[in-house]
Amino acid sequence: MSLVEKIMSLKKERNAIILVHNYQIPEVQDIADYVGDSLGLSIQASKTSADVIVFCGVYFMAETAKILSPGKIVLIPDKDAGCPMANMITAEKLRALKTRHPGAKVLCYVNTTADVKAECDFCCTSANAVKMVNQALHDAEEIIFVPDKYLADYVAKKTGRKFITWQGYCPTHVKILPEDIKRAKKEHPPAEVLVHPECTPQVVALADYVLSTEGMCRYVKSSQAREFIIGTEEGILHRLKKENPDKFFYCPSDCAICPNMKKITLEKVLWALEDLQFRVEVPEEIAERARRSIRNMLDIVD
Ligand code: 13P
Ligand code: SF4
Repeated sequence: MSLVEKIMSLKKERNAIILVHNYQIPEVQDIADYVGDSLGLSIQASKTSADVIVFCGVYFMAETAKILSPGKIVLIPDKDAGCPMANMITAEKLRALKTRHPGAKVLCYVNTTADVKAECDFCCTSANAVKMVNQALHDAEEIIFVPDKYLADYVAKKTGRKFITWQGYCPTHVKILPEDIKRAKKEHPPAEVLVHPECTPQVVALADYVLSTEGMCRYVKSSQAREFIIGTEEGILHRLKKENPDKFFYCPSDCAICPNMKKITLEKVLWALEDLQFRVEVPEEIAERARRSIRNMLDIVD
């Protein structure tokens, strides 16, 4: 039996579902039950009837799945697949910030740990941050928005709101430079430029569209354009090419690679299913409070 056949047979035996983020390596994307962005994966995790969720992404994503499905076994095939941005703020630091702004509502990007989410009123992803501010927080006088300073900058410009921010950022997206986009545009003049809102404001300013990873997949399918410059982690190109074989995609920078997203391999997925490892656990006291902020998001966008 091939590795893929072994995974498929064990998946059936365990009544498992394999959820995969758009940045995962091609072989892992190809065995997924669902490939998507943070929002889509959270929704899938909250709705599945499987007993076991194998989460191929980074730790905060698997943790979100566990918070939404506390009765299920949630596995991450590599427990060291973390998100450096999520680790840039702690619950303790957020509590100190809240103390300095006692009246503020707290919005956190989904790229945070469970105990940070537990300190927040609302969660958001890059797909719905603007909507969350406009709909859920329209009457808030002060808003703390953590941890991504660049996503906060983008949402502030789109909504006209001011935020109390944190100095977090994604070490992968900041590697995409304005000159990379300018060079790519010169090389491919008809191409449309799509970038992720984790990019710097200077890069965002050069984009035709600013979208979450799922937003990019959706947009490309519907666009009349045939060429696209993709300002995000390079893993997404596999899905874009697979779903749009007649279109052309260009990476503006060859260093936009998230090393943590690449830690999961087919072998590790098989071992995860064989040994039910590595189990993601969130203490119920934290999970309950974190669930509230995620549910507050899903109630608005689901
Ligand atoms: P998406 O929710 O757009 O997939 O983004 C997740 C992420 O970590 C981007 O770096
Ligand atoms: Fe975190 Fe950036 Fe990797 Fe996304 S690409 S998981 S934000 S480090």
